[in-house]
Order: sequence, then structure tokens, then C-alpha cells
Amino acid sequence: LASIEVDISAIEEGQEIKVMWRGKPVFIRNRSAKEVEEANAVAISDLPDQNARNANLAADAQATDANRGVEGREALIVMVGVCTHLGCIPLGQSGDFGGWFCPCHGSHYDTAGRIRKGPAPENLLIPPFEFTSDNVIQIG
Ligand code: FES
Repeated sequence: LASIEVDISAIEEGQEIKVMWRGKPVFIRNRSAKEVEEANAVAISDLPDQNARNANLAADAQATDANRGVEGREALIVMVGVCTHLGCIPLGQSGDFGGWFCPCHGSHYDTAGRIRKGPAPENLLIPPFEFTSDNVIQIG
């Protein structure tokens, strides 16, 4: 399917669901307040990839937590769950930064899905999506 609709209303704080979009997993996480706080506390200059990699923003948008998340719904993060190194699927709530960890070659992503350590060159990609109602997003 070119695009999918996902009801996000049942994702509890601190939980994540995985849906398939164009043959790839997409992680939808309702982050805890602590995870959002940690992501916000990171200086852009500390990021190996300072680009937001957010298909919904300008190509040169910076990788702030606000630019990785969703305006007005800071806890939410929607990302293609494919490691930007060689395409393995990272594990949630893992790694040195409490975000995602790719076990294939050891890439650590933070709670905003930004690469922090390891061989992956880019942040996890944020796909094009929009809200079609209060609790439903359309991806693609
Ligand atoms: Fe993820 Fe290599 S594929 S670290």
C-alpha cells in the first residue's frame, strides 16, 4: 500500500507499536516524559548527523527534538525502523542512549531516533505522515 492509516489512541505512554509501510517497519512511539526530556537536553553540536531527516520538513531542518517529533504532541515519534547503516531493524529501549540499538554492527540511537554512536551515518528516517483525525495518522 502506498499509504496506511494508523490509530494511535491505544499506545500508552512509554509504549511503541510497529506497523508495516511499503514493506518496511515503522515505529510509532508514545515517549515518556523522561525520554522527551533526554532528547531535548542534547546539543545539536553533539549529534553526528545534525539533519532532522524528517520528510515533513525542509531538507535542511536541524535535528532538534522538536523537528524529530510532532508539533503539539511532543511525546510522539514516528520513524522508519530501518538502521541507516546496512538496513537491520533496531531494537527499542536499548543501547547507550535509551532509544534504539541496532545489534548488527552496534549503532546506538537516542530517544529521538538520532544516531549517537556506531557506524550508522544518519538519523532514523521520519516518513511523510499527517493526522487525519485526532488519533489517526496517515503514513505516506
Ligand atoms: Fe545497523 Fe549495521 S545495520 S549497525
